[in-house]
Amino acid sequence: MRVYVCSCFGITEEQVKQHADSGRCTPRQIASSCKAGTDCGSCVRRIQALLGRGAGCVTRTEKIPPVSAPASLCTDAAEAA
Ligand code: FES
Repeated sequence: MRVYVCSCFGITEEQVKQHADSGRCTPRQIASSCKAGTDCGSCVRRIQALLGRGAGCVTRTEKIPPVSAPASLCTDAAEAA
């Protein structure tokens, strides 16, 4: 079943996901590749929501694992405090 995201240009959820899988991870990048969101703009939030669900892209909500610094780097700061 085709679920249209952008009715102005006939862009489906599947097409947005495919664009996302090929590295287009923002509504602006999606717009530049298939024009979705560039006419009435009412689909931009839906596109954003699809991208936010991680359709092939690393989302900003994903946590980056903490970097553990060697203890030797921290001793100077600890002594200065
Ligand atoms: S529905 Fe996408 S630009 Fe209008």
